[in-house]
Amino acid sequence: MLALTEPGNLPGMARIFSGIQPSGELHIGNWLGAVQNWVNLQRTYDCIFCVVDLHAITGKYDQVSLAIRTREMATGLLACGIDPARSVLFVQSHVPEHSELQWLLNTVTPIGELERMTQFKDKSQRFESVPAGLLNYPVLMAADILLYRADLVPVGDDQTQHLELTREIARRWNAEFGNGADYFPEPKPLLTEATRIMGLDGQAKMSKSLGNTIGLLDSPEEIWQKLRPAKTDPARVTRKDPGTPEVCNIYHLHRYFSPPATIATVADNCRGAKWGCLDCKRVLADNMILALGPIRERALSLQERPEMVDEILADGATSARRIAAETMREVRDRMGLMPRLRGALSS
Ligand code: TRP
Repeated sequence: MLALTEPGNLPGMARIFSGIQPSGELHIGNWLGAVQNWVNLQRTYDCIFCVVDLHAITGKYDQVSLAIRTREMATGLLACGIDPARSVLFVQSHVPEHSELQWLLNTVTPIGELERMTQFKDKSQRFESVPAGLLNYPVLMAADILLYRADLVPVGDDQTQHLELTREIARRWNAEFGNGADYFPEPKPLLTEATRIMGLDGQAKMSKSLGNTIGLLDSPEEIWQKLRPAKTDPARVTRKDPGTPEVCNIYHLHRYFSPPATIATVADNCRGAKWGCLDCKRVLADNMILALGPIRERALSLQERPEMVDEILADGATSARRIAAETMREVRDRMGLMPRLRGALSS
């Protein structure tokens, strides 16, 4: 076991960067789909994790709650097991180099590529007048990753197109300013087994904005109240109707939260109409409550000490900035900007 005093500094360890938007609530969808994976990656990689508040302001957003949601997201990540002794955890806007590199990378990013991004095409339809920030969203994401010269980026499949553009931006920048070398490594996606958790409505991917989630901080009672009306196999109208576990979202969730023997019983009881969907949900609720209990406890205790979370984020920003400032010195130099006589005022 390696004792780390300074996170992110082990030579020879591949570096990981990933970001998550400050939606406020972490739910079982982000947990199973991303955060659990981040927690495991900490053992083998030099990890940098970022709450991307600057990305969160590219659409319409609530400025009154942004800071609260940002702290809540960080609290949730810590509760899930992101360990500040091993990894760097920080808030994007606390490291101004992200914005600076974003501007510089804009100069090698073709507008046509940005307009082709499916997320942009989708989201821009919601605006009468499309903000430039929405178009440039992927350039900021490229800056996030390249600032730390990350090797690997764990992302969901909805972000692979953005990551491909990051690679393209790195290639173009290297060709233009790299002096024959690849200053920016091309970051590779780290795709784990695709975990796309469906919402409780069984209609769409679990997402806070759709209100179809179970939050990691939900109380046992809230978990049950949300699971009870959740969509199951429509063929099971009464408990006498046999069902097909494979098409049931509740069965799918059992596979993440219940032990193998229970999963087998659940499938058998469903196929043989040996119990009703509510019985099945009760077992799931109990196992979910058991699994999420420790995370919830940690989160509640962190919520009582917000100043501790803020300290962790401040230390994270300092560690991140140490790397980011070094990259920016190189980038400014290679792009031909006039050197500063004295360093910038600390901010
Ligand atoms: N765009 C990502 C998402 O919505 C979040 C993100 C921002 C990100 N910067 C990143 C992910 C850098 C990975 C690496 O999920």
